[in-house]
This record gives sequence, structure tokens and C-alpha cells, in this order.
Amino acid sequence: MSTPVPLARPLLAWYRRHRRELPWRGVGDPYQIWVSEIMLQQTQVETVRPYFERWLRRFPTVQALAAAPLQDVLALWEGLGYYSRARNLHRAAQTVAAEHGGQLPRTVAGLRELPGIGPYTAAAIASIAFGVDAAVVDGNVKRVLARVFNYAGDVKTPRGERDLQALAGSLLPAGRAGDYNQALMDLGATVCTPRGPACPLCPLGERCEARRLGLQLQRPVARRRAPLPHHLLAVAVVHKRGQVLLVQRPEKELLGGLWAFPAVRLEPGAEPRAALAAALRAEYGLTITVGAPAAEVRHAYTQFRVTARAFACAWQAGRLPSPGPEVRVKWARITALPDYPMGKVDRRIAQSLRP
Ligand code: ADE
Repeated sequence: MSTPVPLARPLLAWYRRHRRELPWRGVGDPYQIWVSEIMLQQTQVETVRPYFERWLRRFPTVQALAAAPLQDVLALWEGLGYYSRARNLHRAAQTVAAEHGGQLPRTVAGLRELPGIGPYTAAAIASIAFGVDAAVVDGNVKRVLARVFNYAGDVKTPRGERDLQALAGSLLPAGRAGDYNQALMDLGATVCTPRGPACPLCPLGERCEARRLGLQLQRPVARRRAPLPHHLLAVAVVHKRGQVLLVQRPEKELLGGLWAFPAVRLEPGAEPRAALAAALRAEYGLTITVGAPAAEVRHAYTQFRVTARAFACAWQAGRLPSPGPEVRVKWARITALPDYPMGKVDRRIAQSLRP
């Protein structure tokens, strides 16, 4: 790795002219900065923008968010993915309203005590909202720094994380961390991009060691990932007089709090119709007939891919158990399905149904 040299002056000058105009920038409201940073975890700025604007109209303050039902919060989040972010944001807003007089903690350590705020997000909020000297190291920042200093280690290992965090911290201009962090993130997102970096436009181009050596596309080094496991799901769309059966996922699980069609994961070679009929009898005491395939949806989550085969089913007999605190099940009118927050796979199945 080459010797760290200061980057702040050219970066901040570039940021003044080329920064992205974003709805949460320049407002100075810590709540808005917090919401934006949570939405921006794993999600691109252009995806976030309309969600952020809708969110602010519906939940303009911490108090408004704290007072809202979780179902409304999940409904506004639908389509952004990683729904634990929405649940944590909601819980954290309740903590901030009840225990901090509606004011976000102003330090990295204080912010980290809130659900959903890890080291990266705490540094982002503290530096941008409160001017704390904390270095943000996300994927964009890692790429920029690994290129400028020709860092040849694997940035995804604990060692790589530590090295880049130390490097980023050593470069931070005191008192300017908020703009500086955002400048690095914007540069990574718009100029120092993964596959086609625009080196001639880069304010750090003349200082960039990887560019000098022609190694831009080889930095950062990251190990190859094993292909994601693939799961096959059979999904039951159980019809009963213009209604279909929905289950609400347990809060702590993947897509917790969202509604879904009942489904079973199939072992290789398993017969989907028999598996669905058995599962509906065992879990809900319902007798169904399983009919024709209704839809097939593929989706990739972070840890696995799924192919979901939905079957049109007909209710024959059985009453639903009364709703409990964990799993909730209900008959929902097909015309009312847009009111139930769902993940992508279930939403696509719902959209394929005709009332
Ligand atoms: N990605 C995450 N937070 C960001 C921010 N504040 N500015 C630009 N990109 C970001």
C-alpha cells in the first residue's frame, strides 16, 4: 500500500461542485439524516429517493414515527427490502421519543445503542448530523481508498475492514467529517465506480496509485463468493369465496411482520401438491384441494435464491385457529391485498390474482 497522503482538499472542492442534490442534504434535521442512512444501507440513492420523500410526508418527525402502527411503517417500506431495518427504525423511534425527549443521541456510542444502528451508520449520522469526527467506511469508501492507496488485501476480511477503517480514520479532516465522508461516498457512487471508473474526471486521479499502475479494475481485491443456495418453494393460494388465505410472518424471522401466502420448502423430488395439502392440514387444520399452477416467481435474497411455484387451491373444510401473538392467519379479500404489506415474491403472486 502506498503512503497515505491527505485527500480532503481536492475531495471537498469536488464535493462543493459535484455533490448529488439529495432531499436530506442541507436540511440539518438529524431525524431525516437518520432515516436516509437506514434506507441507504444496501440500497442505492436513486431507489431510496421516492421512499424517503413519501416517508417524510407520512412520518415527518420522530414522534410521528413512534406513534404509527408497525403495519403502516412496513407498508411504506414495501419494496425496499431488508425489512428488519423498518422494524428497528420504528422501535428506535419509540425509544428516542420515550427516553431521549425526541432527540437523537449525538455521539457514536449513544447512537449505537439504538436498534438498527451499527458502526457504519453511527459514524454517518454522528458526522453528518452532529459534526463528530468519525470516519464512514462503506463499500464505496472502501473502493475509493483501496484504489487511491493501492491496497492489495481482501477488503471483505476482518483484517481488510480494520486496515481500511484505520486508513479512513487517519485521513479524516478534523471538523469536516460530515462533508468529507459524503464526498467519498458520492465519488465512489458516481466516478470511482466498480466496473467503469471515470478516472479522467476524478479529483484524486493524480494521486491514485492503482490508476498509476493500471490496476483500477483489480482494486479492491475481494474473494469470489460461493454461489447462493437455491430453494424451491411451493406456495398455496387458497381461495374461499373471493378471499385468500394469508399468514403473517413472525416478527423475528426473515420478512417479519409482513404477510405471505402459506408455503413449504420442497426437498428435491418432493411432490408440491401433497406437501401443501399436508402442511395446511398440520399447521392450520384446513382441508384443501390443490389445483393448477398459478404463478412462478424467482427472487434472490442476500443468503439464498428462491423459485416459488404458486398453486391455486380451494378451501374444503376447517376453521382457522384464533389469532395468536406469534403466527396470525386470516382470510383476506383479493381486492384488499394491496393493503397488506408483503415481500417481493408474495406481492408478485398477489398481483397475478384476479378478484
Ligand atoms: N450512502 C450512504 N449514506 C450516504 C450519504 N450520506 N451520502 C451519499 N451516499 C451515501
